[in-house]
Amino acid sequence: MENGTWRFRGNDKLNIDTTDTIGGTLYWLRKTCADNEDEIRPLIPLSNGDPAIFPCFRTSLIAENAVVDALQSAKLNTYCPFFGMLPARRAVAEYLSKDLPYKISDDDVYMTLGCTQAIEVIVTVLASPGANILLPKPGFPTFEARCAFSDLEYRHFDLLPEKGWEMDLDAIEALADENTVAIVVINPGAPCGVVFSYDHLKKVAEIAKKLGIIVISDEVYEHIVFGDTPFVRMATFSSIVPVFTLGSLSKRWAVPAWRMGWLVTCDPCGALRDSGIRDQIMACLSLYSDPVTFIQAALPQILHDTEEEYFAKCINLMRQGANILYNRMNEIPCIACPTKPEGAIFVMVRLDSSMLEDIDDDVDFCYKLAKEESVILMPGVVVGVKNWLRFCYAIEAPDLEDGIDRIKSFCQRHAKQTHIEEL
Ligand SMILES: Cc1ncc(COP(=O)(O)O)c(C=O)c1O
Repeated sequence: MENGTWRFRGNDKLNIDTTDTIGGTLYWLRKTCADNEDEIRPLIPLSNGDPAIFPCFRTSLIAENAVVDALQSAKLNTYCPFFGMLPARRAVAEYLSKDLPYKISDDDVYMTLGCTQAIEVIVTVLASPGANILLPKPGFPTFEARCAFSDLEYRHFDLLPEKGWEMDLDAIEALADENTVAIVVINPGAPCGVVFSYDHLKKVAEIAKKLGIIVISDEVYEHIVFGDTPFVRMATFSSIVPVFTLGSLSKRWAVPAWRMGWLVTCDPCGALRDSGIRDQIMACLSLYSDPVTFIQAALPQILHDTEEEYFAKCINLMRQGANILYNRMNEIPCIACPTKPEGAIFVMVRLDSSMLEDIDDDVDFCYKLAKEESVILMPGVVVGVKNWLRFCYAIEAPDLEDGIDRIKSFCQRHAKQTHIEEL
């Protein structure tokens, strides 16, 4: 080979703009804050999705001790089965079955590296040539990114702010065709803070059955509810339609770094049995790294024994954060929060940038806010909706108040003269 004529090249599918992803956007916004050397105030992360950074959300002592004991047993330093260790799979089966009208079996459960890998696996498995999948908008952009990478076409149906962010059921039917294979439901709903009712989920199950498609239920925020609507698992309706339930320890136990998740087939009628999909999940998982053994080994104790007081404390903090956010949004006229969140850890608020002097849109707003106030908010466009902002309220109350004060003074400073009195 002649000098300078190397033939290697990278994968074009990875030529993506990192400012389109949550992780990339957070990185650039943090960098914008850090570049402001005059700023002496602490950064306020109002869009993180990671309560673990605040001491008040420290995970339960029972969970920590379970992991320490498992690690110190010195029996867990070997490789484990690629689809997960039996005690961990059994513990997840029992944990989910508590909320369901039938029993999940150990064989229905596959252990994954967080809920993210469960998404990765199910998207890969469903990505047959020509297939398409229905995704909620706003949603969780990892679904879109994984679909794009796996050449699985995605079609968006709206969540409707004027209906408390319910799914647009008519749109679901209209979008689907003979190549549609699945619909994704995120419940409790990120990023809107909606908790879907029993009746609404049942309607989705019935529509999916009519269309002959699977429901993928991302329940990473399971049981994080504090409004009037109780949490109902989509698999409650798996006698109507097969459901894949995706979950993890990341949010309810506030330990995203432990990377402990699961993918569960909920299929009491056996609709998936002859489809080959279960074998394909196994094949897909055999290509990946396994979740850490000592976290898997600790899982039965974590899922069975975590004290109710720990969950109650976290829910109270989230309720308090949601109330502060919802009530104080009224103080800032260019921002409107259409619905009070009832669950998960985010809410979407609408931005009216026409009331501001030199702010083009949600992206411009978030970068200037980071630069001038050291507050991080996620532009709505990253989760699918332009001129909205994603707020996280799983944050210590004084920081939340401080963050809102800073947003308020930012908006006052940038107000158009015609709106100055309102602001
Ligand atoms: C809706 C949704 N699904 C999945 C995930 C990923 O979860 P994990 O950290 O367990 O991989 C997140 C993380 O923020 C999320 O918001």
